Amino acid sequence: MKFPLLAWRPSSTRGQLTFQYTIVFSLLLVLAAGLLYITLNWILFWNIDNELQDEASLVKQYITFEQGKPVLRSHTQAADESYDLTTIFNVSQILNTEGVPVKSSPELTAFGYSFEPKDLKGLVAMQPPPTFTTMGGKRDEEVRFVNTILLGPRGSRYLLQIGTRLKPINDAQDTFLWVMLMLLPVTVGFSAFGGSIMAKRTLKPVTDMTHAAQSISASNLSQRLPTRGRSDELDELAETFNAMIARLQQSFDKMNEFAANVSHELRTPLQAMQGETELALIARAPLAECRRVLESNLEEIDRLNRMIRNLLVLAQADAGEMRPKREAMDLNELVRDLVEQMRVVAQARGVDLRAATSSPVPLFADSLRIRQMMLNLIDNAVKYTPAGGHIEVRVERVGGHHGQAQVLVRDTGVGISAEDLPRIFDRFYRADKSRTRGVAGVDGCGLGLPIVKWVAETHGGSVEVTSTPGRGSSFLVHLPLQESTAVTA
Ligand SMILES: Nc1ncnc2c1ncn2[C@@H]1O[C@H](COP(=O)(O)OP(=O)(O)OP(=O)(O)O)[C@@H](O)[C@H]1O
Ligand SMILES: [Mg+2]
Repeated sequence: MKFPLLAWRPSSTRGQLTFQYTIVFSLLLVLAAGLLYITLNWILFWNIDNELQDEASLVKQYITFEQGKPVLRSHTQAADESYDLTTIFNVSQILNTEGVPVKSSPELTAFGYSFEPKDLKGLVAMQPPPTFTTMGGKRDEEVRFVNTILLGPRGSRYLLQIGTRLKPINDAQDTFLWVMLMLLPVTVGFSAFGGSIMAKRTLKPVTDMTHAAQSISASNLSQRLPTRGRSDELDELAETFNAMIARLQQSFDKMNEFAANVSHELRTPLQAMQGETELALIARAPLAECRRVLESNLEEIDRLNRMIRNLLVLAQADAGEMRPKREAMDLNELVRDLVEQMRVVAQARGVDLRAATSSPVPLFADSLRIRQMMLNLIDNAVKYTPAGGHIEVRVERVGGHHGQAQVLVRDTGVGISAEDLPRIFDRFYRADKSRTRGVAGVDGCGLGLPIVKWVAETHGGSVEVTSTPGRGSSFLVHLPLQESTAVTA
């Protein structure tokens, strides 16, 4: 069953609440009025019927039969003082078995009540007759009777009916209905009004929140929605929203810092190159000097190129566009080759670089990325280890069949101080720049380790670092083995 009225939904929540409240309230009102009406009816008729029954049993005591006919007479009083049905009861009659009145109060005849003799006969014939009957055509003329059987001599039967007019009751019922009908629209109006005010009050915090949220923009992300300290649903909403803004603010701050870092990293070398080049041009420097400037510029350009490549990798990683390829590869072999290549660079700096490799370590990974990760780690170790130092790169399988691949890059270099340690994986972070430059002679830009971390994590692995300043550092990378990542062996 469908109620089109109930299916209707106002566009605003306030309207919706008001509407539903009014509907429910009105239905309750109608239900209550109906129940009240039924109860009222029941009480009224219960009273009348009780009274009628009392009267009937009283009258019955005074009825005697004379020459076979019923007569109403007092037992104790003299015959002339006997009272008739007419004197006490307005509406009453005695019917014979044919349904014809043998005696009836004058009012019955005066009001012109006409009951069908056929109906009355049927009533008399019933054994036993119904205790109560309501008769009379129109609503205004209805009479309620209590029926009592009188047994006369020689088995004659009569029906005594004592009644009362229902007009007062019917009038009361009509008045009640009218009042209810008049009251309904008024109450509905009031409940709609009250409901609307209640809805507005309930929704006020939501409206407040909307206004507060509207005033929050990228430039004032530090602003928060007010909570009312009631820890209800709305407070929870405000807190959730605030937490979201806080996260937004964090990533905004990060982005701003990142942009500032990038522009700084780009500007400094560009300015240096510009200065040197301009000077060489203005001073009409000799060819040898020009050559030196160009060589130094080339070095800077090389560095900038590397940095921009790294930035691009990280930007794509951030955008989630860099899904690592999954190809079968041997980590052991990759590391051995890499160490072979880097050994020349390390030797040039007076650093001893060695690989402690063993049996093949199969991986299911992006070999280019893994190579880049290992290169960054070894490059760091070489850069931050003074002449005479040692670097060891060790590849191992740990934890059996479902275990992991583990790569350890350990150097005897300058080490990292405890305060720098948690930050070295941040973008553009470099520990104490003067010292770094002093040892390495080459300036990095702090993007190597963030890439290491990203590659390890996107392969389902991790990277840890331990370091003692002045004695060296160890970088430990864990990667899942081929068996645990491949679908088929
Ligand atoms: N093996 C290491 N020994 C000592 N310090 C290290 C080592 N590896 C990294 N660090 C410190 O961590 C910082 C961040 O390293 P990261 O590789 O991210 O940057 P970078 O090497 O300075 O520059 P890039 O790698 O971009 O050329 C370095 O500046 C250095 O201070
Ligand atoms: Mg580096």
